Amino acid sequence: MRVMPNLFEGKIKESSIFLNRDIMLPSYTPERLPFREKQIEEMVSVLSAAVDDHKPDNLFLYGKPGTGKTSCTRHVLNQLDEFVRAKGLAVKIVYMNCRHYNSKYKVLSRIVQGLYPDRDFIGYSGTFIYENLLKYCKENACRLIIGLDEIDKTKDLDELIYALTRANDELQNSSISILGISNQLMFKDRLDPRTKSSLCERELVFPPYNAEELRAILKDRVKMAFKPDVVEESAINLAAAIAAQESGDARTAVMLMLRAAEIAEQGNHSKVTDKEVKKAKERVEEEIVMDMICSLPEQQQLVLYAIARLTTDKKGIKKLSNEECVLCSGEVYDEYRKIAEKVKASSVSIRWFQEYINELEMYGLLLTTNSGKGFRGHTRLIKLGFDGEKIRSILEKHLLA
Ligand SMILES: Nc1ncnc2c1ncn2[C@@H]1O[C@H](COP(=O)(O)OP(=O)(O)O)[C@@H](O)[C@H]1O
Ligand SMILES: [Mg+2]
Repeated sequence: MRVMPNLFEGKIKESSIFLNRDIMLPSYTPERLPFREKQIEEMVSVLSAAVDDHKPDNLFLYGKPGTGKTSCTRHVLNQLDEFVRAKGLAVKIVYMNCRHYNSKYKVLSRIVQGLYPDRDFIGYSGTFIYENLLKYCKENACRLIIGLDEIDKTKDLDELIYALTRANDELQNSSISILGISNQLMFKDRLDPRTKSSLCERELVFPPYNAEELRAILKDRVKMAFKPDVVEESAINLAAAIAAQESGDARTAVMLMLRAAEIAEQGNHSKVTDKEVKKAKERVEEEIVMDMICSLPEQQQLVLYAIARLTTDKKGIKKLSNEECVLCSGEVYDEYRKIAEKVKASSVSIRWFQEYINELEMYGLLLTTNSGKGFRGHTRLIKLGFDGEKIRSILEKHLLA
């Protein structure tokens, strides 16, 4: 009888390029985070109140995507965790990304689940969960630090912050501190004043990286992830330059290098050069844009979705010239209101709508101009910065699911 070979036979391949591909993934947290020494020092200084058995101030970190907020937070919280375990201190840390825990209930459940890993809190009331949170803090007399990454994704954020802040009134030898993080530069300014003053007791901005910094970051990473002399210096420089020009985003730089290396591997090349980086550019741009769209707050997603719908359905389009087609902001606003109603979301006033358009433009997702002659009154003309079909389909998954 002939024995069939296992389907996976021959699938173990040794890469001729990578030493450790995982190091190039966005989820990898480097031990060394150059150009963020100041931010790390500031975070340590705020959080060190906990090791001294005081309540750390709430801390809010913000900056564009890819500026190292998540990496620095994970690094600092890992270090703190390691330290308090070694010293036997009553400090407890819970970290989560609010993309996955996007309501007060989900966040509180996740916190309590982290505190009582052996119990099951699924399906219990919000009050029960909240009481267990207080109970844990009181019984353990601990300093609880809650890291809430992409905190802007939380739908009822005011209620969440209020609940967590108010908890401190009932705690004596214990406390709850919030470490909030957002990719949205304007998010802070949109907060309810009371929420803002609680959440942003201390704040820290993460500026974009310049080309020189990105080059150094990438060089470090390449040294760990690739075999020696596989990646050409000029490929590193090009990836850093592209990322600096687009956004100053380290994730773009790292992703460009990863995709470039994959292209080299598929083509059986033993080196990663400029050529592969150039080829990787388009694909990475698309990945980054799609990810950015997913991470937008719901209201901005709704506005963008309205624009993508009108564009792809060719409704309300005005032709400026043969190639250039635009939408008028009034029609976009009407469409946005309709969609918001359909998905049972609240909708915002025209003033906030204009603000959202500004932000979407700042992220490069839209281009706008003011109408000149030929249009009634003064209106803002809007068009998408990227492929309408793609934007529409990704938002449909998000908003209509
Ligand atoms: N200072 C840095 N040094 C090394 N790698 C960095 C640095 N800043 C960011 N990175 C890398 O860039 C990518 C994006 O960083 P991340 O912390 O996720 O950014 P953010 O949370 O601000 O969007 C990650 O792969 C991270 O490892
Ligand atoms: Mg992040």
